[in-house]
Amino acid sequence: MCGIVGILGKEAVADGLVEALRRLEYRGYDSAGVATLEEGHLAICRAEGKLKNLTHKLFRHPLAGHSGIGHTRWATHGKPSERNAHPHITKRVAVVHNGIIENFRELKSELEGEGITFRSDTDTEVVAQLVDREMVRGAAPEAAVAAVLPRLKGAFALAFLFDGQTDLLIAARKGSPLAIGFGDGEMFLGSDAIALGPFTDVICYLEEGDWAVLTRAGALIRDESGQVVSRPSQKVAAGSLLVDKGNHRHFMAKEIYEQPEVIGHTFGHYLNLDTETVNLPELPFDLAEVEHISITACGTALYAGAVAEYWFERFGRLPVSTDIASEFRYRETPLTGKGVTIVISQSGETADTLASLRYAKEHGQKTIAVVNVPTSTIAREADAVLPTLAGPEIGVASTKAFTCQLATLACLSVALGRARGHLSEEDEHRLVRAMMEVPRLMTEALKLSPEIELLSRTLAKARDVLYLGRGTNYPLAMEGALKLKEISYIHAEGYAGGELKHGPIALIDETMPVVVIAPHDRIFEKTVSNMEEVAARGGRIILLTDPKGAAAASVDAVQKLILPEMPATVAPMVYSIPVQLIAYHTAVLMGTDVDQPRNLAKSVTVE
Ligand code: AGP
Repeated sequence: MCGIVGILGKEAVADGLVEALRRLEYRGYDSAGVATLEEGHLAICRAEGKLKNLTHKLFRHPLAGHSGIGHTRWATHGKPSERNAHPHITKRVAVVHNGIIENFRELKSELEGEGITFRSDTDTEVVAQLVDREMVRGAAPEAAVAAVLPRLKGAFALAFLFDGQTDLLIAARKGSPLAIGFGDGEMFLGSDAIALGPFTDVICYLEEGDWAVLTRAGALIRDESGQVVSRPSQKVAAGSLLVDKGNHRHFMAKEIYEQPEVIGHTFGHYLNLDTETVNLPELPFDLAEVEHISITACGTALYAGAVAEYWFERFGRLPVSTDIASEFRYRETPLTGKGVTIVISQSGETADTLASLRYAKEHGQKTIAVVNVPTSTIAREADAVLPTLAGPEIGVASTKAFTCQLATLACLSVALGRARGHLSEEDEHRLVRAMMEVPRLMTEALKLSPEIELLSRTLAKARDVLYLGRGTNYPLAMEGALKLKEISYIHAEGYAGGELKHGPIALIDETMPVVVIAPHDRIFEKTVSNMEEVAARGGRIILLTDPKGAAAASVDAVQKLILPEMPATVAPMVYSIPVQLIAYHTAVLMGTDVDQPRNLAKSVTVE
């Protein structure tokens, strides 16, 4: 999604703006631009494509000025091009925007009716033109913005820079996050705290509907009704501002390798290792009284929820439904009295997941957010928050956030089973002991990397790949397929093993690799039958299993990746590692942009 930065500095700001934008690259973008006040007057530089194109332009035509705004654009309205890149400027104002102005057509025709000409195909330019019109009518910058904001429908974070106003930035937030950073005689704006890492660690987040007037002396924040409000500033932990690949070639590789450590932190947060019990933070409702669980999320977070559905049903013995957030929010799902809705999100800003959370609250549900960004909107709005302690995830393809979501949900499922009396104390101890083994098992799984690298040479030649799994390995199969699609651009599908004969088997021939995720469990034999069906049609099988499974899978044409034996409950976390490495190595071989795959945004803050 688009990224916004702004600086009121003591020195020239163009380089600082670009540096801050670089830290937002992970969000996904297809053009970028900056505006500064050169000798008090608006000047811009914009370029299609990656930031290096913008820096080349700035090298040839540097921008002076101690105040400025910058933007990385992920195209929604109008194709990725220089003309549509932000900032959008008029004579009086420059604007950068993250989100969508839903009523822009109506506003645009109103302005065009008054003879105003547009220079881009974006929804954003209407904001610049509306503010400009107010100023032409005599309004000062602050009054102009105050008059325009109520006219905008949709979700947005906005930053404004005004011609002739070298000590002024105005920012507004409705739906898309925006952070204000406090420096020493300097002020900063950013879509997140990571962007502001090089400048300050004192941050304050605007709340829904807030807008702020920034000068070098500080920020005056108003809420939607225009009341001056105070929003707490906080010192951000240094670790959460780090964006560094370490010794790895890509953030994704670093994040895959961090998993034994971060899942250890996450379990450490929820498990008491001495008593071998799960200790959840206090919830504002009694787990024993819950009658139904609805899980909703998008993408990888949804698949974490789909794994948890098996755990909640097995340990808690209560009905669970898992839904894609963009469907849940519009399906008019009936929600029962004693239901709990669990939303899962790495960023905590995904528009559909947030809307689903609000829908659930409006319909009387208690809500739990499993989130990785503790300051996010979803974390703030849910009744209870179960944080995942994965640390900042920069690679667009989610890896460590996924396994930490699984860890958190596994702990919740055990707590649920205990509260409802379906798990005994001994069951809890046994499950906790199994969870404590996960960091070690993940470290073992990472040792498969060289083998997977070799194997990915075959996968890189494939046009389509099928992933199969049963039970909790079925959502993991979908996650594997999503990962491969996202970063290698190879078409892949994840299916429940039992569904093979109901359609996808038609695709199988000698060019089709089939990744089978099958630890030796109570339904392993069924999966062997699926593999026989694939082998009989010439399909090439890559089997992720354990020593028992490897010995039992007497099927032809199988390449085996053998993981240690482990209890079934923790298998989805550990088997995620080879699943992620398969996608990673294949993408590296194919030469794609692993950390910022085409067309994708890290956090989807628009519908
Ligand atoms: C996963 O690799 C994705 N890029 C994507 O599916 C992601 O999981 C989804 O957009 C949800 O994001 P969230 O966890 O930040 O809500």
